[in-house]
Amino acid sequence: MSFLANGSELARKGAFFSRAPMLTFDRTGTLIDVNAACRELMGKDIAGCRGYGPDVLMDRLRPRLDGSLFDGATSRLYRRRPTANGILRTDELSPSVATCRYRSRRFGDVAMRAVELSCVETETGRHSGSVLNLFIDEIADGPGYEAALLKRWRHEMMWDVYAASYDQILPQLPFYAEVVERHYRRMADAGIAKILDVGAGTGNVAVRLLSDGKDVTVVDNSRSMLEKFHAKIDGLPVSKLAVIEDTAEQLPHIADGSFDGVTVLLAFFDMDDPYLALNEAVRVLKPGGTLIATDPKQQFDVDELMRAAEQALRDKGLLAQRGEAWRRIQSVAPIVDQVIQDHHHENGRSEHRADWSAETLLARLAELGFSDLSFTDSHLGNCATIAGIKPGQTAVPVPPAGTAGR
Ligand SMILES: C[S@@+](CC[C@H](N)C(=O)[O-])C[C@H]1O[C@@H](n2cnc3c(N)ncnc32)[C@H](O)[C@@H]1O
Repeated sequence: MSFLANGSELARKGAFFSRAPMLTFDRTGTLIDVNAACRELMGKDIAGCRGYGPDVLMDRLRPRLDGSLFDGATSRLYRRRPTANGILRTDELSPSVATCRYRSRRFGDVAMRAVELSCVETETGRHSGSVLNLFIDEIADGPGYEAALLKRWRHEMMWDVYAASYDQILPQLPFYAEVVERHYRRMADAGIAKILDVGAGTGNVAVRLLSDGKDVTVVDNSRSMLEKFHAKIDGLPVSKLAVIEDTAEQLPHIADGSFDGVTVLLAFFDMDDPYLALNEAVRVLKPGGTLIATDPKQQFDVDELMRAAEQALRDKGLLAQRGEAWRRIQSVAPIVDQVIQDHHHENGRSEHRADWSAETLLARLAELGFSDLSFTDSHLGNCATIAGIKPGQTAVPVPPAGTAGR
């Protein structure tokens, strides 16, 4: 029977990579998961909806939705709450179907049927949650959606592969260890108690801050990277930790000015809309708070970095021993490079990628009125760390035109 237990992670991945956009709710009606196809189709309309009920989801989608994702007569989630004892009534055993039209920001008009299924715990027979499958009947830009979905899957798989090797390789590289130390030192300041780590990944900065007793919130949208992070926090004061597995582009659950410090180490570059994520990072930072971020510079040379990394592993006698992990990193390096190059060169050619680099980040923070701005090279001059202090105002101006995201 053990293959069944081992298969649960694979089954979860199967749903995540399903072609049908899919949302999963727990028995209380809280949205707990959004699969890759749904993230791609709805982009920032769905960002930040996890952790909330169907009302919040509908409020968010309403400006772009005719009809509803939930059939008013039969939806367990939207109109009726689960029965107190969790036992499904006969009429609740059939899927409920709602038809609607969604105006996707990227793919135009989408005619959909939203099919809601109740999940039943076989052991107890109780209602354990619901799955909402979105059947796409028509989509204006079908080929565009399909191409984007293939790209999204490839990107998600990149982080799965990265997660498997990240901590075996990256901390061994002097240029990475140096920049982790730089972010940690800046956030370790006695005046900084509450910290947001955006795109925290396996938590190489966050874990050290937690060990110091800091109050840390991490946000990352890769489950695999966060699983590695979770495996590292045993014995740490986790009562001061909050983990948000979601995109950093919208953080509706976090109030303005909540943090004394925000650290973003090599994460903005990977986002669909780094300007939106920067706006959120600035919004949740207190006036007078510190932001530190490292990103690739305009002239980013992945080959130079890969050669230096291999040499560092060789010098430490780790190349043979960690050969498999190193080959995995090598296999994803061209994909990472493509993501960086897309941000550097696609502005004006694509409405979906914003021009982004360490240099544009510096310019944007200057525009936002940050003071004490510094720009320090890292990664052999291929990246740079920008740090600064948020001005004593809370309003964040809207991003410049042409920074459209999903
Ligand atoms: C290169 S890793 C850096 C991880 C960590 N900060 C470090 O330096 O070790 C980039 C991380 O950003 C995360 N990321 C990418 N896009 C994101 C988004 N839109 N929202 C939140 N996290 C994101 C990835 O999942 C990944 O874990």
